[in-house]
Amino acid sequence: MKIRVGVFFGGKSVEHEVSVISAVQAMKNLNEEKYDIIPIYITKKGEFFTNAVMREIKAFEDVDLLLQKSQRVTFINYENKVVMTKYPAKKLGKNDISYIDVALPVTHGTNVEDGALQGYFKSLGLPFAGCDVLSSAIGMDKYVSKVLLRNGGFPVVDGYRYSFVNYKNPENVVNDIEKKLEYPIIIKPVNLGSSIGISKVNTKEELEVALEDAFSYASAIIAEPCVANLREINCSVLGDIEFAEASECEEPLNASDILNFHDKYEDGGKSSKAGMASLKRKIPANISDELRENIRKTAVESFKYLNCNGVARIDFLLNNHTQEFYINEFNTIPGSLSFYLWDKIGMKYNALLDRMIELALKRFRQESEITFSFDTNILSNAGLGSKGSKL
Ligand SMILES: Nc1ncnc2c1ncn2[C@@H]1O[C@H](COP(=O)(O)OP(=O)(O)O)[C@@H](O)[C@H]1O
Ligand SMILES: [Mg+2]
Repeated sequence: MKIRVGVFFGGKSVEHEVSVISAVQAMKNLNEEKYDIIPIYITKKGEFFTNAVMREIKAFEDVDLLLQKSQRVTFINYENKVVMTKYPAKKLGKNDISYIDVALPVTHGTNVEDGALQGYFKSLGLPFAGCDVLSSAIGMDKYVSKVLLRNGGFPVVDGYRYSFVNYKNPENVVNDIEKKLEYPIIIKPVNLGSSIGISKVNTKEELEVALEDAFSYASAIIAEPCVANLREINCSVLGDIEFAEASECEEPLNASDILNFHDKYEDGGKSSKAGMASLKRKIPANISDELRENIRKTAVESFKYLNCNGVARIDFLLNNHTQEFYINEFNTIPGSLSFYLWDKIGMKYNALLDRMIELALKRFRQESEITFSFDTNILSNAGLGSKGSKL
């Protein structure tokens, strides 16, 4: 029997369209001899729809039309299996469409990469590929991940966090940042991707504008020193806490100071529909063997430290003069699932997807062995007039 893989994509996220591109690529590379592929598109409102034509990118040229022709669905756990069922239910006829054995979320950004969707899968009792709830949430929050990684002895850039409550007094925030950091300073929302809301600032006036911009996208921001003589090196890791390995390293080559949304997706992505895989990049990155090995080792160790699972891409900032490097961020569902970093070291995309699904099922098995309930009769006396003081 084939494994029924529900490929989830889209969602309430600024990276919605990028996710569609990543998911279509993934569906084209899943081995059809092993899997039944079930596309599940999450609209920008958070509704689930399915339609076999969603395996082709051209189906998304007119999303309204696509949704009219597609089936809205919901999921229920029935006798320990997760069933995809029509919503709203029809009075006559069959409502169940298919079981789902495992979910493959190919989703990017808030609500879908940050543990929220993963929590939904977990509550349903559906095995899913990729990071668990906590590691997804940690990976999405640039401040939390920084603090944890520093605690684990990993190299990160200093950073100061300010919330919208602090920002009720913008002058205090500006003064505090100027007291703590020297220009140039980087301002970024704590939990977005695709370089949205990120600025490099050199003056107080620029800082004020950057804060206004960053706070329009998130309820908290980070101010951090700008790494000088910057080069960026990314490395992907595949595995889990027990065994993980690193891919080839890449150097994204960007036109401007900050790799922005346009560089990442619109420039190359729109014309070729290839998403992250089409971004200008150098693979392998032109760095010394020693640096390459240090970065790959740090990537694997930090992946395990944060208990990641499946594939994640870890992005580094390198000071090219001193050769010092810092972990900048974790992408727990990287664009194009970073397949292009794996085929460079001999792993085909279909094998990468096989491994992610195996790891998902392995984690589900391991978690099923943990006891989550106790057989007690603690509630059996609850209605008998006891004051319940022990509860
Ligand atoms: N501390 C820093 N020093 C220098 N450049 C930085 C720093 N932090 C971020 N950048 C630049 O901004 C870009 C986007 O920042 P990043 O933290 O990766 O956000 P995103 O999640 O949006 O990709 C990076 O790729 C890099 O070019
Ligand atoms: Mg980044």
